[in-house]
Amino acid sequence: MDQELSARLGPDRLDTRWLGRALRLYDDVPSTSSVLAEWAASGAPHGATVVAARQSAGRGRQGRSWESPVGNLYVSWLVRPRRPVAEMAPLSLVVGLAVAAVLREATGSDDPGLKWPNDVWIGLRKVGGVLLESRIHPSPSIVVGLGLNLLTPPHGWERELRGRVIALDECAVAWTPAQALLRLLPRLEADHDRFENEGLSAFASSLREYSLLDGRRVHIERAGRHQEVEVIAIDASGGLRVRSDDGIERIVHAGEVHLGEIRA
Ligand code: BTN
Repeated sequence: MDQELSARLGPDRLDTRWLGRALRLYDDVPSTSSVLAEWAASGAPHGATVVAARQSAGRGRQGRSWESPVGNLYVSWLVRPRRPVAEMAPLSLVVGLAVAAVLREATGSDDPGLKWPNDVWIGLRKVGGVLLESRIHPSPSIVVGLGLNLLTPPHGWERELRGRVIALDECAVAWTPAQALLRLLPRLEADHDRFENEGLSAFASSLREYSLLDGRRVHIERAGRHQEVEVIAIDASGGLRVRSDDGIERIVHAGEVHLGEIRA
């Protein structure tokens, strides 16, 4: 087991009530979310957490893979929701906000923010991503997966990622995965409880403050259709309110959003 993780993350070190109190640490797994899903099927409690030093088959949204070399944070935690699973989709925004808030504190800048629906960006580059996977049977559960870039690869980013991703070390924050978790988990727990008790409306002002897309032109891709629109704001339900060139406003609930012009 990864020495740094196990030395720093004992339950007595974590300032949380339920998140990460049941904790499994690994050197190498296919995906922390898959390992946690198996644990959930055999009774893992609310807040059970899986951390790995690296993943060999990390998953991103939309069926993409998530490159997972040693040095970054790969963590998944289990939510046994008190609300119907269908009402829990905005949890990805709440998680993104919590991560961005911790990164604002750490970097001392307002650059970290939320890119709807579940990316954390610094400036206009992605530093982290959130993946929610829910099940209804045999009992409702949600596996929340978070990947956070801490280290720039020694030989730089692959060509297709260059200019589009960033790691925290570029902002002069030198965190190990354990140091990142010790800061993130208490905030994630507090914001999760607030969301379950009060709903997304409790985060309305944070959403305005942290949303990096507001006022920008983006292109939206959904079911093979592309459209350029202007983003107005994240709305009370967690959807993205946009205005198309004919002036019509609507709320987008799913799909990919890219900055700038439609890509060929
Ligand atoms: C995305 O932006 O596409 C979401 C990326 C989520 C990656 C994390 S890393 C920990 C957890 N395990 C996985 O296989 N995926 C998530």
